[in-house]
Amino acid sequence: MDFAQKIRVIEDFPKPGISFKDITSLLKNGETYHKAIDALVDKVLPWKPELILGPEARGFLLGAPLAYALGVGFVPVRKQGKLPGETVSETYELEYGTDTLEVHAADLHAGQRIAIVDDLLATGGTMLATARLAEKIGAEVVGMSFLIELSELGGREKLKKYPVFSLVQY
Ligand code: PRP
Repeated sequence: MDFAQKIRVIEDFPKPGISFKDITSLLKNGETYHKAIDALVDKVLPWKPELILGPEARGFLLGAPLAYALGVGFVPVRKQGKLPGETVSETYELEYGTDTLEVHAADLHAGQRIAIVDDLLATGGTMLATARLAEKIGAEVVGMSFLIELSELGGREKLKKYPVFSLVQY
């Protein structure tokens, strides 16, 4: 299936010069959504993850069905202040300023095999911070998968110590 053709591209969003890749046009189509998750399953299954981690918010849209299909659990990684229990947190650099991601400390454990999924690989900052969260708890990140990779932004280089898979590249 030509997944790229199902992704809506919106120019100059959220600011001039940015060509925004909108996955809502892919998700609204039952067949395309199903096939995209199936393609991620094929890639992630051999990594033998015991758990899927997905960063807020669009990572949930892919991570939850992927976990369900694999028959493993899903743990959300959230922006600061959203999770009620004891958390582990990781702060990372943005173009302007910083952002902080958190996970419930009790939801992962040392030695656990973790795969992380998100909609988009851009600079790789979100994914690297998510991997560090898992590693702070002693879990093992066995791979990372994305629907979309913006190759020019060099995220793959930032994540070079991990197996990285993306379905569509721009
Ligand atoms: C977007 C996207 C990825 C991240 C990729 O999330 O969903 O998580 O940016 O960028 P990076 O590789 O440069 O880190 P965003 O922070 O916009 O959050 P959202 O999913 O809640 O909209």
